Amino acid sequence: MGKKITDKVTWVGKVDWELRKFHGDEYSTHRGSSYNSYLIRDKKTVLIDTVWLPYDKEFVSRLKEEIDLNQIDYIIANHGEVDHSGSLPELLREIPGTPVYCTANAVKSIKGQYHEDWNFITVKTGDKLELGDTTLTFIEAPMLHWPDTMFTYMSGDNILFSNDGFGQHFASETLFNDSVDPSELYAEAIKYYANILTPFSQMVIRKINEIQGLGLPLDMICPSHGIIWKDNPMQIVEKYLKWADAYQENQITIVYDTMWNATRRMAETIAEGILEADPDVTVKLYSASKTDKTDIITEVFRSRAVVVGSPTVNGGHLYAIAGILELMRGMKFKKKKAAAFGSYGWSGEAVKIINEELEKAGFEVVDTGYRATWLPDENQLEQIREYGKQLATRL
Ligand code: FEO
Repeated sequence: MGKKITDKVTWVGKVDWELRKFHGDEYSTHRGSSYNSYLIRDKKTVLIDTVWLPYDKEFVSRLKEEIDLNQIDYIIANHGEVDHSGSLPELLREIPGTPVYCTANAVKSIKGQYHEDWNFITVKTGDKLELGDTTLTFIEAPMLHWPDTMFTYMSGDNILFSNDGFGQHFASETLFNDSVDPSELYAEAIKYYANILTPFSQMVIRKINEIQGLGLPLDMICPSHGIIWKDNPMQIVEKYLKWADAYQENQITIVYDTMWNATRRMAETIAEGILEADPDVTVKLYSASKTDKTDIITEVFRSRAVVVGSPTVNGGHLYAIAGILELMRGMKFKKKKAAAFGSYGWSGEAVKIINEELEKAGFEVVDTGYRATWLPDENQLEQIREYGKQLATRL
């Protein structure tokens, strides 16, 4: 059965406690997730979004317990990605012809995936759907995070249905932000922003300013993943404005990989040097091959600078470092500094290659980096510690 949000709105989604990987293998979901679908019952009845494809039969069957499907007048698809549109085929087999309200780009993305010519009604920003006592207003939100994305605002209850925006991969049996551990919620919200929305930060700022300019009262934000922002919903909007503005904390993250521990010794020694020179900075070290990549990206997002290390292997850097550098490139981080280091036996190209990749990724590379031969001895380690001290001021 659904869970009541207001007199008119019922949550009819799916909590996925088992989920540990999302977007294929791209995103780790240590705390599971949910696919939120909402039923609005006014004089007209509306379903906002559905749930991920593997749960389509369960979704439709549970929806039938909540309502006679033939009473659903409209379906709204705020976004075409399969975690929200995946149950449309199963649902529309039961109620074919039900209008599906979405953006023009969502018609393309939904048709592109399901190859069905459903009764699409294309909407633009400002278009309205009267339900009786309440009205829905559509707000296109392209690239937050697909071209097809839109938000839907419900008057009366003053709810913004924001789809992925303001979401978190966070399974909870309770619905609201004031019923969960705030530190766990914060960790999942910032991870979600860092990994999904960072590349679109300028659009995040523009869209929030646009919506605030409409002067709509806001009592709740209902995203399509995780909990609902009911207690002070503006808190997540304010966080988004901070995160979208080249966010950084006083943190330096060292990301490295190592074969025989020489580059790891370098990483640890650079960290000691940085902290010796600047005891106030938070320094964190992550092995790229042993640490979840989504978590590393979250730590890079929080950092003012990164230091990336790899030994030289076959004239290049290690595979895990190549992978994390590619993820960092895609994030389009702003105003972050960087440096590189690594050990080598004979040719030593890795540091130069890492620097080039960091520059391509938009980082300000502060020097040519530090290379050490073989396994550093005490004398070399002292020089590396000194390099760390210098980095503390350069980064
Ligand atoms: Fe949660 Fe972009 O789908």
